[in-house]
Amino acid sequence: MKILAIESSCDETAAAIVEDGRKVLASVIHSQVAEHQKYGGVVPEIASRRHAENIVGITEQVLADADMTLSEVDAIAVTYAPGLIGALLVGVNFAKGLSLASGKPLIPVHHIRGHIAANYITHPELKPPFLCLVASGGHSHIIEVKDYTDFRVIGRTRDDAAGEAFDKAARSMGFNYPGGIYIDKAAQLGNPNAYKLPTPRVEGSPYDFSFSGLKTAVINLVHNANQKGEAIDNNDLAASFQYTVCKILTDKLMLAAEHTTYKNIVVAGGVSANSGLRTALEAACSSRGYRLYLPELSLCGDNAAMIGAQAYYEHQNGNVANLSLNGCASVPISG
Ligand code: KG4
Ligand code: ZN
Repeated sequence: MKILAIESSCDETAAAIVEDGRKVLASVIHSQVAEHQKYGGVVPEIASRRHAENIVGITEQVLADADMTLSEVDAIAVTYAPGLIGALLVGVNFAKGLSLASGKPLIPVHHIRGHIAANYITHPELKPPFLCLVASGGHSHIIEVKDYTDFRVIGRTRDDAAGEAFDKAARSMGFNYPGGIYIDKAAQLGNPNAYKLPTPRVEGSPYDFSFSGLKTAVINLVHNANQKGEAIDNNDLAASFQYTVCKILTDKLMLAAEHTTYKNIVVAGGVSANSGLRTALEAACSSRGYRLYLPELSLCGDNAAMIGAQAYYEHQNGNVANLSLNGCASVPISG
């Protein structure tokens, strides 16, 4: 089954054609990041307008790259939630138009389910059940993936998502938006023990996260140094911050794995590209005899191939939308 997938939930306009949930026939991503960098973050209205301008051309491009026409596609998939509502609505309405014009079924896909499905492309042998850490700009979850369309969130962030903490800490250090990748690069040159940063405590669920205290500690540290005219070593601060975030994510995920007895551990979302996190998880999983699955770097951030991969399993489960499908800014992954 060949699915044409559309993704427009944030600042990437993307289209892909994916066969049977695993094989990417073509994938095109148009990033708006250069434009949003001027404002230090995504400006929702600009994002929507750029999606509207680019979505037709991106889709024509992906069909041309796959050497296919719309009539050769078996279904249309689209990210319907969660995300920026004005951005989501561009993709949703465009996908509805494609479905109406072609008579092909319309498959609604949850963005976070899509991030997890990026791993089905990278690891053709991977099948649920498994335990998954999702760490992106908007979400930090530990999820039991019981089946392709059956999810149970057992841990979540109480405040900032991991990617959001990376971006805000990076901003205080003077890095461009989105700062996760700049912290990653700087951290490779720094000493992770140089700055003592707090590990926020979370009462209640042992698998829940909190990153806002850590983020604020970095912002205050930079602010105080600036006021006193003292120099901050950005490489050392990036390394110390990254080490602390990665330790929190790794420790909670390992605790959840131990309690739930999953042996297959999967990571997804933009922060899964982080080199420190990948190294920490590899060490933690190998010492415990767990198998670790990470998406290839090109599939960690937002893309439509992951939406096409998940759509295959949504369709198998009978999840087909009618043409009144709407976008939703916030929907839990369990549906
Ligand atoms: O999954 P994603 O592309 O978008 C959302 O669905 O939110 O995640 C974007 C987040 C941003 O916060 C970005 O800074 C972070 O992923 N990110 C990274 C790295 N690459 C992207 N964070 C840390 N290290 C990286 N190498
Ligand atoms: Zn995403």
